[in-house]
Amino acid sequence: MSIQQEKIKELVERRAQAKLGGGQARIDAQHAKGKLTARERLELLLDEGSFEEFDQFVQHRCSDFGMDKSHIDGDGVVCGRGTIDSRQVYVFAQDFTVNGGSLSKTMSEKICKVMDMAVRNGAPIIGLNDSGGARIQEGIDALAGYGEIFERNILASGVVPQISGIFGPCAGGAVYSPALTDFTLMVDKTSYMFLTGPSVVKSVTGESVDQETLGGSSVHATKSGVAALSAPSEQQGIEDIKKLLSFLPQNNMEDSPLRPTSDPINRTDDALNDIIPDNPNKAYDMYGVIRSIVDDGDFFEIHKDFAQNIIVGFAHMGGRSVGVVANQPRVIGGCLDINASRKAARFVRFCDAFNIPLVTLVDVPGFLCGTHQEYGAIISNGAKLLYAYGEATVPKVTVTLRKSYGGAHIVMSCKQLRGDVNYAWPSANFAVMGADGAVEIVYGKQIKAETDPVKAAELREQKKQEYNDLFCNPYQAAKKGYIEDIIEPRNTRFRVIRALESLKGKHQEIPAKKHDNLPL
Ligand code: HXC
Repeated sequence: MSIQQEKIKELVERRAQAKLGGGQARIDAQHAKGKLTARERLELLLDEGSFEEFDQFVQHRCSDFGMDKSHIDGDGVVCGRGTIDSRQVYVFAQDFTVNGGSLSKTMSEKICKVMDMAVRNGAPIIGLNDSGGARIQEGIDALAGYGEIFERNILASGVVPQISGIFGPCAGGAVYSPALTDFTLMVDKTSYMFLTGPSVVKSVTGESVDQETLGGSSVHATKSGVAALSAPSEQQGIEDIKKLLSFLPQNNMEDSPLRPTSDPINRTDDALNDIIPDNPNKAYDMYGVIRSIVDDGDFFEIHKDFAQNIIVGFAHMGGRSVGVVANQPRVIGGCLDINASRKAARFVRFCDAFNIPLVTLVDVPGFLCGTHQEYGAIISNGAKLLYAYGEATVPKVTVTLRKSYGGAHIVMSCKQLRGDVNYAWPSANFAVMGADGAVEIVYGKQIKAETDPVKAAELREQKKQEYNDLFCNPYQAAKKGYIEDIIEPRNTRFRVIRALESLKGKHQEIPAKKHDNLPL
């Protein structure tokens, strides 16, 4: 064997060794927990043969606590670039088989390198997290590593899409890198996110809680809203990440890819003409409307199980990617509350940052009231959504299906918040509030003064009727130019797509500023 051949053999052997990470026994242990390895995940995520690994031979530089005797090539994270549906992405996947995927300084340097490349080359960054957090043996160096990653998350925000998959534990300050990214996906039963684990919680607060109850996907996908997506398995989670990417542009200077469709642009749907119940207090399912108007009925929902009174997600309309925001009358009547406002505001801001037009479907009776909401700062949280819509310069098409009352009317992409094309169905009504509340406030004293209860009831009904006659239709708004047109529900898909087409060349500036001061 020539010297060159020997060197090539060494390279092949070292590569094979590096690919084993912490060794076969630890890989088996990972599988026994129902988890894939970092490399298996990347194999599922990236187009076949597209992965190019960087820094496979990097080793940690720690010599404390006997770490100088334990070096594994790659040091607990697999980094590189590849393609998904032939579009370039940068990736890092933490390898739990190496020191529990814990973050060393060199590991952070590897991650920062691919993040820098992603921003320089205008491609999304996907991080697959499976880590015990800062590598304890490295102390401040490990913490510094996190700081450097966070800084890059912040600088990349709004420049390239950042997606975090949580595929194992994610403990301590480590949760803040995913929290700084655009979308966090968790896997049911095998992934956890918390600032401190159950044992620390027990010692500090005395509370006994297991990992799942403290920070499993069931918590973050339903209660906290930290996880935008949750999946029943790692395989499904990876498919979801790929699907999510299909709606997004590569960076903030590009548009999302077109998706050709055989679904006719002018497809009408007669069922929509019958979807609004006669009783204004009766609910209907907004998903039916969304699926009816988007291409092929294909809707990719974000935050599906969190704040279900508002629906947000991606779809295509006429082949173009759009962000859909819709009130859901089936859940607390579609009222806006703290969580719904936070959820939708974040989504609207993402779409605006990445040139994705917004389609808003409105049926909102108002903001949820009461002490719980006030004490939780519904004022500041509602303002987030108001702010997000007001600052958004992407094309905005709004369709009001039924109620559009009070502050919630203004928030939901109304004309004055720079809605570009605002339509209403004939069932729409725009008012400060519904008839019941309005009549009590305006005629309450007069009604109370009526000593005959039958006459009092008649007066109440008469005033409600007058109010409804005046406001329970879209013509007041149409008369004043607050909506562009009243459209037949069956034509909604066609009218929205045509509006979006007309807005393709939209360009709107906001005043120069260092940055805004969103009401956080
Ligand atoms: C060094 C670590 C480690 C860590 C795990 N390991 N976490 N090594 N630093 N942070 C090692 C273990 O010693 C073990 O090595 C191997 O990884 C596997 O860990 P196990 O405990 O055997 O696995 P498991 O039972 O599955 O438990 C996983 C775990 C647990 C839940 C993640 O290891 C754990 O609680 N780790 C500590 C979590 C934590 O509190 N991290 C610090 C957070 S503070 P051997 O060789 O024995 O197999 C933080 C600050 C960030 O991250 C600050 C940013 C601002």
